[in-house]
Amino acid sequence: MKELIKKLIETPGPSGSEHVIREVIRKEVEGLADEVRVDALGNLIVRKGTKAEGGMRVMISAHIDEIGVMVTHVDENGFARFIAIGGVAPHTCLGGRVWFMNGARGVIGVEKIESMDKIPGLESFYIDTGATSRENCPVKVGDVGGFERPMLDLGARLVGKSMDDRVAAAVLVESLRQLKETPNEVYYVFSVQEEVGLRGATTAAFGVAPEVGFAVDVTRTGDTPKGAKMEVSLGKGAAVKVRDSSFIADPRVVNWMVNTAEANGIPYQMEVLERGGTDGYAIQIARAGAPAGCVSVPCRYIHSPSEMVDYQDVLNVVKLVTALVANPIKL
Ligand code: CO
Ligand code: ZN
Repeated sequence: MKELIKKLIETPGPSGSEHVIREVIRKEVEGLADEVRVDALGNLIVRKGTKAEGGMRVMISAHIDEIGVMVTHVDENGFARFIAIGGVAPHTCLGGRVWFMNGARGVIGVEKIESMDKIPGLESFYIDTGATSRENCPVKVGDVGGFERPMLDLGARLVGKSMDDRVAAAVLVESLRQLKETPNEVYYVFSVQEEVGLRGATTAAFGVAPEVGFAVDVTRTGDTPKGAKMEVSLGKGAAVKVRDSSFIADPRVVNWMVNTAEANGIPYQMEVLERGGTDGYAIQIARAGAPAGCVSVPCRYIHSPSEMVDYQDVLNVVKLVTALVANPIKL
């Protein structure tokens, strides 16, 4: 899967500008699906299977947008100011590279730092495209870009920008490849605009009207020096989410995930995330509501240019996701 992960994470696509990454994924899934459609917001909705005896309509959601920037102002010397699309932290920006949807590229600089004890806000940063004037600057107000960083293969671990949540998009593609027979009607949703508030999954879930569903997303870990106190570690398997700050996973869904992992010998760990949200919340409150949860890929340094995942964890998440929908579902 490494090639697929590399292809998906290196493609730019900040929230609201998912047209390029969507086409990349559409090419991957077209031959694997019973139906492919794109809804009004741009969610790519891929159906596999038809509801049979004992089957359910299931929605699985992985978001294909990523954090990024939007230009707010270009000064007379060609320096572009920007705001964040999604959760971009200032301390991750300096020296970073931006790849705009119009093809322009730039690096992020910062005004004079007065005190090394204090990280300035995003308003002190700017993008330098190499331009010397507003007129020859290749970007203008409203242009958007993602961060640029090639994938690094460390063998057991993979590093890159936008593992959140392209690694999960790769999981869904691989699951589509592996899922042969199913009594369920499985909707693999590649959702848009998650980083700005689960917007894509909200309309996708309304359209799909799932009877049960879950997100596949990254989650934080507690296994780094003086990091947060958190049970999740890289390399210890798929994380079954119990709770994050957007929702409390349905206990029936949590049990279904745990039982499926145990029945199939898939390593898993329980996840309670203090801060963060996923498409699972949008599924849970869609229409009159649906039992919902989330399977997570443990990930270090989320929302930095170098997000790290464990390759075996990724493979285990594929196994769990596929096993969850391959058989009749009893909650
Ligand atoms: Co994110
Ligand atoms: Zn995410």
